[in-house]
Amino acid sequence: MLGPVILAASRSERTRRFLTTTPMTRPVVGRFIAGESVEGTLPVIKDMADRGLDVTLDVLGEDVSDPADALRARDSYLRLVDALAPLALGPRAEMSVKLSAFGQALPGGHDLALRHATAVAEAAAAIGTTVTLDMEDHTTTDSTLAVHSELLRAFPRTGAVIQSYLFRSEDDCRELARAGSRVRLVKGAYKEPPSVAHQDRAEVDKAYIRCLKILMTGDCYPMVGSHDPRIVAIAGELAERAGRGPDDYEFQMLYGIRTAEHARLAAQGHRMRVYVAFGTDWYGYFMRRLAERPANLAFFLRSLATRG
Ligand code: FDA
Repeated sequence: MLGPVILAASRSERTRRFLTTTPMTRPVVGRFIAGESVEGTLPVIKDMADRGLDVTLDVLGEDVSDPADALRARDSYLRLVDALAPLALGPRAEMSVKLSAFGQALPGGHDLALRHATAVAEAAAAIGTTVTLDMEDHTTTDSTLAVHSELLRAFPRTGAVIQSYLFRSEDDCRELARAGSRVRLVKGAYKEPPSVAHQDRAEVDKAYIRCLKILMTGDCYPMVGSHDPRIVAIAGELAERAGRGPDDYEFQMLYGIRTAEHARLAAQGHRMRVYVAFGTDWYGYFMRRLAERPANLAFFLRSLATRG
């Protein structure tokens, strides 16, 4: 119940101002954010690669309302690609992109976001890797899937994200499974109305399994984006039943969450990719992590109280 309240509070400008200006927030934010700059994050990426973990990199930022900020967001990704090139990790280090950071909500924003995403996908392809388009709130789903399908023409390894809490997602999974693309399945992290999304966690979990079955039995490359032990176990069983080997799907988890599980899955020979978010614009991402697990909020408030 607390999750939706936190997500609603995350829209408050006063909350944003308080949390982003108080230095006491930093240590807690650091659990989920790998660094503030590319340079500060490269050692984290190298360390993960050495431990057999792949990464998908998110330069934090979303909901831009100025075309100049959208351009800056694109350029941050291009700088990231330049910095990654010497590591020669190829597809082991891909990029996760939020189209709202590329101006999707601006007038003419669909085309703008497509142009910026194309530039990043081109740069990524030049160093042997690719891009996955994160999925944001349901008002952006059609536009994001349309950008994804445009990008697939030139960059067939472009990834899409499907959120199992949306009623539409089984249909979207069928579509993407046929297209043979890379699909990250997640439960969904935004506050959505009952007209478009399951509100009950058990229903979201059941929908996840239905979507996963479609992806595992289809032609696509499923990316299982979840920390839920039950889902991880079922994904393994479904993959085996569908005759998929370790190269035919992967697990994905967020930086800072269930890290022992990252290591366990990699050690078992699974492809394990960690979603590594970095940058200074961490507010929206951080609030979604608090909302997913009310215990995080308690921990956060306790640490504010003791440091204060
Ligand atoms: P669930 O929430 O049931 O958590 C299962 C267990 O994982 C918990 O019991 C706890 O142990 C641990 N856990 C989960 N969240 C935690 C947290 N915040 N802090 C501490 N422990 C936590 N969403 C979206 O809408 N669009 C997107 O593009 C993406 N992209 C994305 C990429 C990747 C790689 C992942 C793993 C997730 C996303 N998400 C996302 C977020 C996703 O929608 C979802 O909100 C979270 O993954 C939490 O759901 P779980 O499936 O982990 O299950």
